[in-house]
Parts: sequence; C-alpha cells; structure tokens
Amino acid sequence: MFCRELNRGKCKTYLLGCERTRRAAVIDPLRENTGRYIAVAAYHDFRIEYAIDTHTHADHRSGTWDLAELTDAKVVMERHAPAPHVNLHVSHGDVLEVGDLRIRIFHTPGHTPDGISLYVEGFLFTGDTLLIGGTGRADFAGGDAGQQYDAITSVLFALPDDTVVLPAHDYRGNHNSTIGREKTSNPRVAGRTREAYIRLMNNLGLPLPDKIQEALQSNQSAIEDDSMKFPDIAQLNAVHQVTAAELHERLVRGGTPVILDVREPEEYCDELGHIRGSRLIPLKTLPATASELETLKGNEIVVICRAGVRSSTAAALLTGLGFEHVSNLKGGMLEWNEAGLPVER
Ligand SMILES: [Fe+2]
Repeated sequence: MFCRELNRGKCKTYLLGCERTRRAAVIDPLRENTGRYIAVAAYHDFRIEYAIDTHTHADHRSGTWDLAELTDAKVVMERHAPAPHVNLHVSHGDVLEVGDLRIRIFHTPGHTPDGISLYVEGFLFTGDTLLIGGTGRADFAGGDAGQQYDAITSVLFALPDDTVVLPAHDYRGNHNSTIGREKTSNPRVAGRTREAYIRLMNNLGLPLPDKIQEALQSNQSAIEDDSMKFPDIAQLNAVHQVTAAELHERLVRGGTPVILDVREPEEYCDELGHIRGSRLIPLKTLPATASELETLKGNEIVVICRAGVRSSTAAALLTGLGFEHVSNLKGGMLEWNEAGLPVER
C-alpha cells in the first residue's frame, strides 16, 4: 500500500494507493493544493479514483470538487454531509474498494455529524475525531462532545493497539501515533469519563476559526465562488427551526406553508425524494431569485434541503431580505425520510 501525506503542514492530506492496480484515493484535499495532488499522483503513476472528505471542514476550503472536476475522481462523504455534488454517500460499516485496498468506513460523529474514520491495512485515518494527543473541537458546526467520546472510546479504541493513527490535523509537528498510545496518553480522553469529557469540551473557550463563514459554509453548500454573501453565526442561530413531525402535522391539518427546497435539481428526485408541492430553488440561485418571491413576503415559508444546513443559510438570507415568517426544516430530507414521512420522487 502506498500512503503519503502531501501538504507538509498543519492540515493533513493523504494519497492512498494500491501498488498493483495504481488506483488511489485522496483524503481531505485542500482546494489550494489541488494541482500538487494531481501532479504527485501522476508522478507516482496513480489514477485518483476517489476524493474523500472525512467531514465538512471549517478551517479550509475542500479540494474534493476541484479534484472531481479536473480528474475522474468521485467525491465521497458520509451520508449526513450537508453538501450537494457528493457522488458517493457512505455509512458505518461500508467498504470502499480502491484497487485491491479495502477501506472500512466507521461513522465517528462528534466533531461534526458527518465525521468518518477510514481503516485500511493497519492504518486509521481519523479526520478530526481523534488527533495526536488531542481531539477535534465539538462546540460548533453540529458538534456533540458525547457522540465524539463514544466514537473514540467504543469504535476507534476497539481497534488493535498497534493501529497507526493518521489525523487530518496536527499543530505540534507530529506525524502519526497509534491507538495504544492514544488510549493510554491522550490527555483529553485517557482516564476520563464521558461526563468529564463533555464538561471539558464544552468549556474549552476557543475562538471561532478565522474565515469560518468562508470555509465552513462554502464546504456545506459546495459554493466555491464568491457569489454568495453568507449569513453570520448570529443570523443562523436566529433561524426558527421546525421538526419533520411538526411540518408533517401542519400539512396534514391543511396548513399551506410555502415549501422552498434549496437543493440542486439532481437531488430533488434522488433517493430522498422531495415533499409534495415543494418549490425547487437551488441555494446558489436564491439571491438572484429572491425578487421573484416578493409576493410571498408575508407568507409562512419553510425551507428544506438534504441535512437542514444549506436551508438554514437560505432561511437566514430570506429573513435578512425582509421575509417575515421563515422556518428551517431541522435535519432536512434525511430526517423527513428517517421519520418515514411521505415523499415524491
Ligand atoms: Fe475539522
């Protein structure tokens, strides 16, 4: 197996290849280094088959879509990933084949809801779930410290002690660790109860990363140009949330909210389907289309998408434009489907 870190910096991107078939995957590519990844892969005679993000990143723009556009690579993310243009959604227990390599997928949420770790031939790519001597923060972007503790202690620490840990970040110049070492000496987790871990993680008092609007919301929506002025955190937090059960109940009782679906056209009829009567306006076209919705300003509007993230952005934008009664469908079409509610395809 060929495995090499390609950035030589705090953010880690790995090229993982099958020596026999010359098929490869790039894990957690940075957008600004896309050319380097393609060049290195070509130099070593690898064909990039997959561009994998271990989660929706907040600190840099993802290079997965650039790689997919410039090569034949397919974008791979966990099924809760909010972004469109993901070619392959994976779930816990799936196996991704890259030539002869069989990459096992573990769903390890907590840093974000869509976190995965990848295990292949004794190597474990942990994303930001488990870092060397640390763990990724769990205090924004849908993070949950309790889920993160469970993922680390029940899923990752169940792997053999000599498993090599390769995280998505390291700020202290480390390159790798092992599960055994992290189990005994990771200061965040070793010897700490779930409750104590949650308390610790909820009180780190870290500032929000620079450029969070630019990186996180761009990655959540796969909008790579600067055409969209994203709402800020306060505007997003002010968005009124409605659950799938509440919306369904309202529709059953004869309520007539305007339902705006802000996904991409190809998602509208994908396996998640759409809610009957919903109107499709992709998020990236919303700023230009909002004037056509002028007559709906006083109406009740519910905005929906895949995971409830892009629609929060849309709801905040509409509220900022003077729409008075805008709600977001929490958890999006994923939760609507999980609740077994009716869809059209
Ligand atoms: Fe992260």
